[in-house]
Amino acid sequence: MKKRKLLSLLLTSSMLFSLTSCATKALETSEETPAESIEETTVEETTTQSKTEETEATEEAETTKVSNPGYDYSSMTPEEIVATLTLEEKAAQMVEPAIYNVEPEDMEEFNYGSILSHYDDWPQWDQETWVSTINDYQAGSLVSSNGIPLLYGQDAVHGVNFASGCVIFPHNVNIGAANDVELTYEMGVCVGSDIMNTNMIWNFAPCVAASQDPRWGRTYESYSSEPSIITPLAVAYSEGLLSQGVVVCPKHFICDGYALYGTGEYSDNTYRLIDRGDAIVSDDVINENLAIYQALIDSGVQTIMISHSSLNGIKMHENAKYIMMLKNEMGFEGFIISDWNSIQNCSGATLEENVILSINSGIDMLMQPDNYDLCMQIIIDAVNNGDISEERIDDAVTRIIRVKMEAGLFDDPYLENVETSYEFNSDYSREVARKLAEESLVPLKADGGLTLEPGSRVFVLGPAADDSGVLLGGWTYSWTGLTDQDIWGMKVCPEGTTILEGLKDLADEYELEIVTNKNEIDTCDVILLCLGEQTYAEWTGDAEDLSITGDLGLDGNLDAIELAKEANLPTITLLVAGRNVIIEDYINDWDSVIMCYLPGSEGGAAIANALVGKCEYTGTLAMPYYKSEADIDNGNVWLPVGFTAAK
Ligand code: BGC
Repeated sequence: MKKRKLLSLLLTSSMLFSLTSCATKALETSEETPAESIEETTVEETTTQSKTEETEATEEAETTKVSNPGYDYSSMTPEEIVATLTLEEKAAQMVEPAIYNVEPEDMEEFNYGSILSHYDDWPQWDQETWVSTINDYQAGSLVSSNGIPLLYGQDAVHGVNFASGCVIFPHNVNIGAANDVELTYEMGVCVGSDIMNTNMIWNFAPCVAASQDPRWGRTYESYSSEPSIITPLAVAYSEGLLSQGVVVCPKHFICDGYALYGTGEYSDNTYRLIDRGDAIVSDDVINENLAIYQALIDSGVQTIMISHSSLNGIKMHENAKYIMMLKNEMGFEGFIISDWNSIQNCSGATLEENVILSINSGIDMLMQPDNYDLCMQIIIDAVNNGDISEERIDDAVTRIIRVKMEAGLFDDPYLENVETSYEFNSDYSREVARKLAEESLVPLKADGGLTLEPGSRVFVLGPAADDSGVLLGGWTYSWTGLTDQDIWGMKVCPEGTTILEGLKDLADEYELEIVTNKNEIDTCDVILLCLGEQTYAEWTGDAEDLSITGDLGLDGNLDAIELAKEANLPTITLLVAGRNVIIEDYINDWDSVIMCYLPGSEGGAAIANALVGKCEYTGTLAMPYYKSEADIDNGNVWLPVGFTAAK
């Protein structure tokens, strides 16, 4: 069973329910729904529970823990703790089920090493619901046979993007275009604060993929195509997260983003064009990418996630040479986690063989959202029959326990004593997110100017003009994200500002008349043509056709382009997209073009600020821009890395 775009199914039923029944709601996750008891207790508790009551619940759990002898690990080393565990307990520490498959009682019985956060739904849970839910699981771990605390893992790849109400930062592709190391550190501090205030301590970020082909669906998760741009940004972001106590997990090791077009993974019966494919690269490229990880290890990251893809024909999940290099040559003392079900795509003929292969290749924890119990049993059997050595298991579990201990989870499992720099969803976070979005706007063409003249009538056109979801992209509230268009025009991000709203907010101050009525187009001085891409994640964004009016373009892009052309007015085009989409067929009709990428919840305000001249255009391309798909293949770059049309 795979997470993934449940929304079309869910929105018809769950959304109607949730929207009518108001703000917080239990997530309805179709057949992946977690145990009802969790939904019921958690949600009811949350709607009425104050912080004090929450603390009382926590204290109760701690009382249970303290009353059970044998849990005092305070003077023990990770190695000493591992020596007290049974093989079953060790195997349990090495697996990570998804939250929708386990209940707190399962933690009490098995005490899995981690739980993976994954609910594919909208609206998402709010901060209080996450805290109380995670505390329930933690309480289960603490009253288990060994009481080792849980490490709760999640993908806060651009803010705590699975908590409703939280500021959504621009995606990595924007951060690369902004290329502001200090502000990226601040983003880490802000996101780190939000993470620790939702108790989701382990973050599967930063993604340090170096997308080489914009047709790859994960291009927007990449800061840049260039390791030299990626490294300082990833280090700054990680250091910001670390400053708040987050357990950081750079991904996906290694040479993520180099998989060749047409080599995508399909062994699990899912067709992929590029994603999880084969990175055929030279030693120089490998070394450049190893250097990114070396810098991150030196900055103190505690975990690393392995790439779904292959390196020169060898699946990374069984690539012992490079995985062991992290541990033996690069000084990495943390632990290695596999990616979602990815051990299953190794070269073994059976799951048994693949579990053995990946663990013997150096992977310490298996992200197996559904078959974790089976994997645990395979680990136990493999140790008993000598296929995996006890030393390998002890090394893995020691690493896991060390990370938990150094993260403070043994002393403060409910993160009650954590002091973050900022409160959840602080004004400062919104300011940093807006500033990063402003800095990430890249003018591609500026013949008609990049600002709106005071006194002008501006016709705001196109499907990205008034859509909060388009600005957020994938990995927001759900795996693939969703547009307002997907939910019949309701606002995916009620706290966010759309481009139209941002302009309206500034209209009086900057003497602009904002017009959206098509009958009045001829009365306007300038058209602001807002085009966008649909939201997507991973291979669902792999695209043969990268045109802004291609498969992944928003419905309505073409109509808007045609209307603008017909009106024959000066046109400034805004592109809201996860990558450098192809615009060759249309660019001659436009006077100016600004690439906005996926600027997040503050994106509309940021774009409006730039258009009225409240901020400068300082963003530059962090990935090459191509005129056509054929040019991608032959390396014929239109606009190079570093380009901006701003003077
Ligand atoms: C992605 C990872 C992510 C994981 C957990 C995988 O499919 O490749 O980047 O961390 O899912 O959601």
